[in-house]
Amino acid sequence: MTKKALDFQALLRPGIIKTRPYSPGKPVAEVQRELGLDSIVKLASNENPEGPLPAVLEAITTAAMEINRYPDAACYELTQSLAKHLDVSPSSLIFGNGSNEVIDILIRALVSPGENVVYSEHSFIVYALATQVHFESGIAVPLTTGDRHDLPAMAAAVNDKTKLVIICNPNNPTGTYNTVAELDTFLASIPDQVIVAMDEAYYEYVTADDYPQTLAMLSAHPNLVLLRTFSKIHSLAGLRVGYGVGHPDLIGELHKTREPFNVNMLSQAAGIACLENWHEVAGRRDRNRAELDRMVIELETLGLETVPSETNFILVRGQVNAGQLAADLLQKGVIVRPMHAFGLGDGAMRISIGLPAENNRCLEALKEILN
Ligand SMILES: Cc1ncc(COP(=O)(O)O)c(C=O)c1O
Repeated sequence: MTKKALDFQALLRPGIIKTRPYSPGKPVAEVQRELGLDSIVKLASNENPEGPLPAVLEAITTAAMEINRYPDAACYELTQSLAKHLDVSPSSLIFGNGSNEVIDILIRALVSPGENVVYSEHSFIVYALATQVHFESGIAVPLTTGDRHDLPAMAAAVNDKTKLVIICNPNNPTGTYNTVAELDTFLASIPDQVIVAMDEAYYEYVTADDYPQTLAMLSAHPNLVLLRTFSKIHSLAGLRVGYGVGHPDLIGELHKTREPFNVNMLSQAAGIACLENWHEVAGRRDRNRAELDRMVIELETLGLETVPSETNFILVRGQVNAGQLAADLLQKGVIVRPMHAFGLGDGAMRISIGLPAENNRCLEALKEILN
């Protein structure tokens, strides 16, 4: 007897049915398969093009000998190492399978049905996605005309049902940042019982003097949580390890909601190796900055409008149809990120900073297309 078709949608929570899956930058192998091109340049996911440090490769090779065992659920060594590096107590740290997981943990732990999360309209998509999947209750506040978080408007959007505000600083996909003075004013206006998460995935790339040094703000603001990652400047995107820093009483509660072995053994070893080699960060930041500045000049020379960036990517806007431009670049083997998923439609595309030769290839392709 054949069984009646099951209506799975009827089984699911409404938030799941409405949610569209996260759409990542296209993987190189997929574009190679689709277009039959030998050489592809991927400037789509804000990764570090420099690759992992030799010390990281050594650390994960050694750690790999033990992968028949479960990893340390408490990430003891990594926690000790990061606590020392940041000069915070180990109990104020939580690690995740990427900082992505820490965002998810925060939303799951804090927000109940009927409550809400405040974030910006054109910001990291995962805030809206994770909120919708769990509780369908996000409040997306428009950016300022300068493509920055509108902190006064975000503060005004907070209501008695708000549990969490997420500020992406610098912001993905715009690359813009909010200053320490703006953040101070914002924090002073937010009720103590609303948690403010600062997503600082691109923290190490920032060179602006008035960018907030939020670690120093934690003691004055127990409702503040910082999210950082090893995926970007540290080149560990493929391993997945990020962390949250906050008040030990809150972090202790968050630990209850994470999976027991959420950070794998290789990631923990790699994270420690990155911390031991922190001196590499400055060079990585400076090389990125030099290429970022060069790309801005070249893109503007081509007639494209760029948004000032403190990250390892540039948002390109302009008179041209940027969505079409991204599609044309793809045909030439250069993967950039069209901005439909970020709600920016055909008006914008995001280009991650690659190695100089990769950036040159992107510029050459753009010249061919625009001429
Ligand atoms: C602003 C922002 N936050 C968080 C993440 C997630 O990073 P992770 O790889 O640590 O999960 C990203 C990744 O692109 C990001 O852009």
